[in-house]
Amino acid sequence: MRKKTAFTICTDRQANLRYLKDRIIAVIGYGKQGRAQALNLRDSGLDVIIGLPQKSKRQARQDGFEVYSTEEATQVGNLISILAPDHLHQEIYQRQIEPNLSSGKTLLFACGFSIHFQLVLPPDFVDVIMVAPHAPGEVMRRLFLQGKGVPCFIAVKQDRSGNAQKKALAYAKAIGCTKAGVFETTFEHEAIGDLFGEQAVLCGGLTQLLKAGFDILVDTGLPPENAYLECVHQLDFIVNTIKSYGIAGMFDRISKTAEFGSYLSGKRVITKQVKRQMEKILQEIEDGTFAKRWMKEYEGGMRNYRALKEQVTEHPIEKTGKKIRRLSR
Ligand SMILES: NC(=O)c1ccc[n+]([C@@H]2O[C@H](COP(=O)([O-])OP(=O)(O)OC[C@H]3O[C@@H](n4cnc5c(N)ncnc54)[C@H](OP(=O)(O)O)[C@@H]3O)[C@@H](O)[C@H]2O)c1
Repeated sequence: MRKKTAFTICTDRQANLRYLKDRIIAVIGYGKQGRAQALNLRDSGLDVIIGLPQKSKRQARQDGFEVYSTEEATQVGNLISILAPDHLHQEIYQRQIEPNLSSGKTLLFACGFSIHFQLVLPPDFVDVIMVAPHAPGEVMRRLFLQGKGVPCFIAVKQDRSGNAQKKALAYAKAIGCTKAGVFETTFEHEAIGDLFGEQAVLCGGLTQLLKAGFDILVDTGLPPENAYLECVHQLDFIVNTIKSYGIAGMFDRISKTAEFGSYLSGKRVITKQVKRQMEKILQEIEDGTFAKRWMKEYEGGMRNYRALKEQVTEHPIEKTGKKIRRLSR
C-alpha cells in the first residue's frame, strides 16, 4: 500500500508569470498538446519557440512561431517543454535533448510516464517539473480563448534552482489551468493514476462495456441502431450530468425505473472478479510491466498495436455509430 500524501490545490493568485518572463520556452512537438500549449503560452505574453523534425514544421510556421530543429530549440530555450508522444521521449531525449542541456535549464513534462519509469534520466543540474493538463489540447485552447481553463496536475522531481514549483505554477497559469484548479502531486502518482484511469476505466474499460452491451442486444435480435441508441448514444448526457451533479445527482435526474434497475444490476456487472482484474492491471502498471511492454511494442515496429487498432475500427458498432451520427447531425 502506497503512503498517502496530502493533495495541495493551488489557485490563480498563487501563480506568478514573472518566473517565466525573460526566458525562452522551447516547445518540443507541435501535436495535440504542443500546438495548444504553445499558442496559450504566447497569448499569455511569453517567449515561445518550437522544436520539430523537418516534416511537420509547416503548421507551426503558419501559426507565426520561430521553428528550429529539436537540438537547436533545446540549446536556445531555457525551459524545454517536452510535448512529443511518450513512447518517443527516451529516443528524443537521448539523441536530441540531453547533449544540448546546460546548467540552469528546466525540463517540463506533460505526463509523469517517462520520468517515473526512468526512460528519461535527467542530469542533476536542471530543474525537472511536470504540468499535466486534464484535457485534450483542442479543448484546452478553446476554453483558453473563452477566458476559461482546464484543471491540471503539477509536480517537481528536481529543484535545482529553488524555484521549480513556482515555474510549474507560472506555466500552468500561462496555459490557463489556474482558472480551473491546479493540483500538486508527484510524477509517480500522476503516471500511475493516469495509466490506470485510461486503461481500466475511462478509455479501455468503458469502451469494452459499451461494446459488450451492444453485442449482447444485437446477438439477441435487436437492430444494431436500437442497441447503439440504448447503450452508447446517450453517454454524453450521463457523463455531463455526473460532471455537473455527481453520481447521486445523476440518479436523481433519470427515471425511477432506470435508477432502481441500475442499483440492482450495476454491481452484478462490476463483480469481485472484475475488480480483481482491475487490481491486476494496476499492479502491472505499478511494477513497470506495462511501460516495458509499450516500449517493446514501439521498438518492435508496433505490429500488435496496429492489429488491435484494426479490430476496434472493424467492429460493427463503428458502422452503426457512423449512421446514427449522420442522422442526428
Ligand atoms: N493528447 C492529450 O490529450 C494529452 C493530455 C495530457 C497530457 N498529454 C501528454 O502530452 C505529451 C504530448 O502528447 P500529444 O498527444 O500532444 O502528442 P502528439 O500529438 O502525438 O505529438 C506529436 C508531435 O510530436 C512531434 N515529434 C515527433 N518526434 C519529434 C522529435 N524528435 N522532436 C520534436 N518533436 C517531435 C511530432 O512531429 P511529427 O508530426 O513531425 O512526427 C508532432 O508534432 C505526452 O507526454 C502526453 O502524455 C497529452
